[in-house]
Amino acid sequence: MQEQIFKILTQNEFTLTIFPMSKNILIINGPNLNFLGRPEMSIYGKETLADLHSIIYQWITDQEWQARFFQSNSEGEIIDYIQNNFEWADGMVINPAAFSHTSIAIYDCIKSISLPSIEVHLSNIYHREEFRRTSITGLACKKVIAGLGVQGYIEVLEDLKKILK
Ligand code: DQA
Repeated sequence: MQEQIFKILTQNEFTLTIFPMSKNILIINGPNLNFLGRPEMSIYGKETLADLHSIIYQWITDQEWQARFFQSNSEGEIIDYIQNNFEWADGMVINPAAFSHTSIAIYDCIKSISLPSIEVHLSNIYHREEFRRTSITGLACKKVIAGLGVQGYIEVLEDLKKILK
């Protein structure tokens, strides 16, 4: 057995399947979402980013899937992270936060990889200020889910599960 494992591990190309139905998901959160849970951010609910991550983590482990979590306040860092990780992933959940309304660069980044991606917003961007009503980045995604709070991320994952079947 030891010998067999050693043989496989020393080949320069091999696939290691732990859970045959497993999927790899990128969970990306944009600027200011590291401040979730602060009283000033109550429009987004009570949960902190750590709470949000642990709710998602629970769902991911229940499915026997794997996820990589990333939050950044910087547009370039979000693009670099997606470019460096999309080959590992089967799908992406992204809340580009305020960059949703401004970032052609993140739109181009999502468009340049063929990774099933769904955008999520905690608040209902369509019922807030005028400047939030258009999501540029959402146009590069399969769908935008908004206004369901943290539950929106789970809805997105359920949708990805159907897409990735
Ligand atoms: C948000 C909505 C954006 O308009 C805002 O800039 C955010 C959070 C949301 O999740 O509701 O930072 O993406």
